[in-house]
Amino acid sequence: MNRNNHIILIGYMGAGKSTVGLKLSELTGRSFIDLDLQIQQTEKKPIPQLFAEYGEMHFRKIESENLKGITGAKIIATGGGILAYNETAEWMKKNGTVVYLHAPFSELYNRIFQDANRPLVVNNSKAALNEMYSKRHLAYQAAADFVISASNCSIEQTVDMIIKKTGINKLDVL
Ligand code: S3P
Repeated sequence: MNRNNHIILIGYMGAGKSTVGLKLSELTGRSFIDLDLQIQQTEKKPIPQLFAEYGEMHFRKIESENLKGITGAKIIATGGGILAYNETAEWMKKNGTVVYLHAPFSELYNRIFQDANRPLVVNNSKAALNEMYSKRHLAYQAAADFVISASNCSIEQTVDMIIKKTGINKLDVL
């Protein structure tokens, strides 16, 4: 099987994976895939509906299959639960550079707590989300080639750090 050379952004809900990924794609000229958007387009249903109709485990399966179907050298923004399967982490390691966008829970919670489009936020208490964050933080760290702070800095600064750390080429002319 051919390996790919993606830049894969991981991290908790609200870390800015989609915004950072889009900006990174503009600066590098690489195509951008927002995994959540791709899933909603292929399944023709919004994420809350996918969770409600099929349950979280089915969503995880679709999520992992969609990720593994991406070929080339793209910038990929994943959903916060992408590491639900160990196998997915292994695929990521073999098929690209994995970048963990890290921020403290309190900051992320303030960004997401009113978001009705995130079923896990709607269905869980702050304490449960905090516990989930702690567990996932360890998994994100273990899967990541680089950990980048997405806390108290602009999107541009975060993107700049990713470019420096990963060594990906910027477009010469913008
Ligand atoms: C999820 C995060 C969401 C989305 C789904 C589940 C999670 O993506 O995939 O609601 O399990 O953390 P974002 O990380 O972009 O919010």
